[in-house]
Amino acid sequence: MTLILGLESSCDETAAAVVADGVQVRSNVVWSQHALHERYLGVVPEIASRAHLERLTPVVEQALAEAGCGLHNLDAIAVGNRPGLIGSLIVAVAAAKTLAWSLGKPLIGIDHVEAHLWAASLIDAGEEHPSHHPGRFPALGLVVSGGHTSLYDMAGPTQLRRIGSTIDDAVGEAYDKAANILGVGYPGGPRIDKLAQQGDASHIEPLPQSTLDRDSLDFSFSGLKTALLYRVRGQPVGRGKDATFERCADDLSDTHRADLAAAFQHAAVGVLITKLGRAIEQLDAQGRRPQRVILGGGVSANSLLRTRIAEVATRYSLPAHIPKMRYCVDNAAMVAGLAHAYHTAGHTDTLDLPAIATTRH
Ligand code: KG4
Ligand code: ZN
Repeated sequence: MTLILGLESSCDETAAAVVADGVQVRSNVVWSQHALHERYLGVVPEIASRAHLERLTPVVEQALAEAGCGLHNLDAIAVGNRPGLIGSLIVAVAAAKTLAWSLGKPLIGIDHVEAHLWAASLIDAGEEHPSHHPGRFPALGLVVSGGHTSLYDMAGPTQLRRIGSTIDDAVGEAYDKAANILGVGYPGGPRIDKLAQQGDASHIEPLPQSTLDRDSLDFSFSGLKTALLYRVRGQPVGRGKDATFERCADDLSDTHRADLAAAFQHAAVGVLITKLGRAIEQLDAQGRRPQRVILGGGVSANSLLRTRIAEVATRYSLPAHIPKMRYCVDNAAMVAGLAHAYHTAGHTDTLDLPAIATTRH
């Protein structure tokens, strides 16, 4: 059995986890900084990196204690070293290097985007291995998070070919901005999702679903965000920061606000589903029909997306692998899990492993 400790501090979650053989989660500790950033309606990088520094050691101690293991039991130390906020990433990277060096254990740097696509493979102690593990390839991967909206033709868990991505906002970012427009605060995704479930999209004239060119697998969410803004506040007078509006979000009734959230959710998820179908058909036509669909990233916690992706899977007779709710948002179990694949392949990193703001894919 291989036990790997994973560390993650790429954005506003400080996390550590111990995973056995790549899939069985022995502990998964996530300390969310949401309360620290809430009043700024978004992540403040300097606050995030300082908080990681304060929390990482207790989070690692807790992860080891909950897993019932000591540092000497570990086979390797894994860390999400890209992409993310650079000042945040370096905290876990420095900690992982220190542990690896002082314990004489291998160090493995992990790409956060690849890790999100591993999250659906994770199981809890005592649970059976999922029937899809290790899973068949090629697979179609969809990463939907605060920083990414990307489709991948996957030849293996670490062999990703990006076939579509957003040309403006990521879908999670669009959710966060929509939450600001509707005046429901931060973090936007879960709040809009909850509100949308109380609303009815059919009470509202549909919001636009931008699908770009007929064959495009890219995404665009900025038009949807602007359409929502005008629907909430009326047509602007003037431009940019100086623009003034007819109304403000406080003027919305609760029912109307919930209906608008439902209309936004319907449009945002609708685009994701359209592109997923397009990607399956295009890959099929190229002789690379995906054997399954893998979903990952914070927005994969979305209730409507989870339902509708299951419908796509049925329509195309493909299994859809969706992470458990706790492995959708940023966590270190997905980092430790994927590291097992690298460890098994004999791939480890040296102590000059850099923190990098961009993804490899
Ligand atoms: O993967 P993640 O934790 O961090 C990044 O790698 O970006 O994703 C965070 C994003 C945020 O934009 C958050 O609003 C969104 O995921 N999110 C959701 C939901 N839960 C989290 N978006 C829509 N519906 C949700 N239920
Ligand atoms: Zn993420």
